[in-house]
This record gives sequence, C-alpha cells and structure tokens, in this order.
Amino acid sequence: MTLDHVETICICGAGTMGRGIALVAALSGFRTKLYDVQQVMLWKSKEEIDKSLQLLQSKNKITEHDVDSVHRRLMYTHNIDDCKADIVIEAIVEKPAVKLALFQQLATVNNALCIFASNTSSLSISDLQAQIVHPERFAGMHFFNPATHMKLVEVVKGKQTAQHVVDALYNLAKTMGKVPVHCNDAPGFIVNHIARPYYLEAMRLVESGAASMEQVDAVMEATGFKMGPFKLMDFIGLDINYSVSEIVWEALGKPERLTPAAMQKAKVDAGELGRKTGKGFYEY
Ligand SMILES: NC(=O)c1ccc[n+]([C@@H]2O[C@H](COP(=O)([O-])OP(=O)(O)OC[C@H]3O[C@@H](n4cnc5c(N)ncnc54)[C@H](O)[C@@H]3O)[C@@H](O)[C@H]2O)c1
Repeated sequence: MTLDHVETICICGAGTMGRGIALVAALSGFRTKLYDVQQVMLWKSKEEIDKSLQLLQSKNKITEHDVDSVHRRLMYTHNIDDCKADIVIEAIVEKPAVKLALFQQLATVNNALCIFASNTSSLSISDLQAQIVHPERFAGMHFFNPATHMKLVEVVKGKQTAQHVVDALYNLAKTMGKVPVHCNDAPGFIVNHIARPYYLEAMRLVESGAASMEQVDAVMEATGFKMGPFKLMDFIGLDINYSVSEIVWEALGKPERLTPAAMQKAKVDAGELGRKTGKGFYEY
C-alpha cells in the first residue's frame, strides 16, 4: 500500500514516546496532531519538541524553513474530537483497559478506513484488536526510545490485521527514516522478549548483594552496551518497564526465570519512575 492518501497522523499520548513520534511524523511532512488528557504533558511536549528543533537547527541538520513547517504542521490538543486522522498511533499508558477505552473513543471520531496502531511494548495485539471496532485495521507499531533517534520499528501483525494495514505502517516507518521489521504477535515481540533477562538478571545480582547497580552498569557499558541496565530502565521509565516484565511473564505462563523483580516494584510503588520523575534507581 502506498501512503499517497495519508496526510494526517494523530499521536495519542504526549509522554516519553508520543512526543518523539510526533516530532518524527511532523519532520517527515505529515500534518500531525498530538493528543493527551493532561494539558501539562502537552505543554511539556511543546517545550521539549521546540528544544529538539533548535538543537537540530544549530547542528545544521534542518533549516529555519523546516522548523517553521513543523510549527505549522504540528497541533497539540486535549480534545478527543480533534483526533481525526488517516493513521492514529497510540502511545499512552501500558494498561489494556485504558488503551481500549481510548480506541473506543477514537472509533467514534474516525471513519472505518482510519488505521489504528499501538506503540505498546508488550500487550498482545491480537487480544487488543479483538475488542476494537473494525479489528482488521489495527496493528502494532513499536518505536524505541528515544523515538527521534532510534531507527528500529517493529510492525506487529495481529491475528486479524489486514495485510494492507501492515504494509501501510511498514511504509510509513520507512518514510519516517526508520528501519521497520515485520513481526508476528508474540509476548514482548522481538526486542522486549530478548531484553527481559538483561534487566531481570541485573536486578537479581544487586538483590543478592553480588554487585552494586553502579558496578553492573559500568561492566555492561565497558562490554559495549550503550547503557547499563539500571540507567536504561530509568531512561525507559520504571513503571513502563515493570509493566512490560509483568505482561511478558504472565503471557509466557509465569516462568520462574522471568519473575518481575521486587526491587523494581518497590520503586514503582514509591513513584520513583526514573528520569521522568527525577528519581529512579539514580537521581537526576
Ligand atoms: N518508555 C519507553 O521506553 C517505551 C518504548 C517503547 C514503547 N513504549 C510504549 O509506549 C507507550 C507509552 O509509553 P511512555 O513511556 O511514553 O509513557 P509515559 O508515561 O511517558 O506517557 C504516557 C502518556 O499517556 C497519557 N495518557 C494516559 N491516558 C491517556 C488517555 N486515555 N488518552 C490520552 N493520553 C493518555 C499520559 O497523560 C501521559 O502523558 C506504552 O504503551 C509503552 O509500553 C514505551
């Protein structure tokens, strides 16, 4: 499927991921809407997106004209009625009931041809789509953090996803300068399935007293990882990372080796969610 008829993209959720995806979409020439229920997240997003644009311009990666075009193309809204688009990419909290309630609202605002994609890290695309109006137009489109820099996008086909929808999202990712990868629906898809032990074994080492988190991070960075597991979890958001661990663990039948870590749950319960709250495993 070509993207000739795709003019408008709506991103739902103006958090860590949504604001990055919105900037990528607007820079790629699409009319872009960024929606969130919290006005404060929209203000924060605008501030961060403007900062990113300034940085890109100062490095001569984009021109003043590009910056003006993004400002013209990108709209911030907390009104669900504004979420009319050709493609909607959902990037809200990793909670199925909240996502489904949003898709229900989106179905009333949009026509049946609108493609719905979820940026979920771990929820089953087939399970979600079973409860969505016109399930064939629904798929996973999993960007990585930070969405502005990370090239990989997993395009996830659920049991009922139509092939033209997968093709459209794959082509959209390419148009955005990304490297899309096809993936069938499976717990954690590809990356989050493989990455679980990276986080869990690191926390087990620290819980057992074998090493400190600083030591674990230093060792993994010295072996070539860009970020040690504790720094990476803080970057991702401990609530999001913990939810993904729980969802993958449950979907695989609760194997002992993938049991979510108590030390991470304690951080989430304390509201220490990583960089986004100023404190997680480390302080920022
Ligand atoms: N953080 C990561 O590294 C990462 C990477 C890839 C994918 N994801 C996935 O992306 C999604 C978002 O993650 P995040 O880290 O950006 O979360 P976040 O906590 O930074 O932001 C979530 C945003 O969703 C908004 N929101 C909540 N309910 C809403 C609703 N009903 N309608 C509109 N907005 C609503 C919140 O106000 C918040 O701004 C999750 O599904 C997550 O699994 C996250």
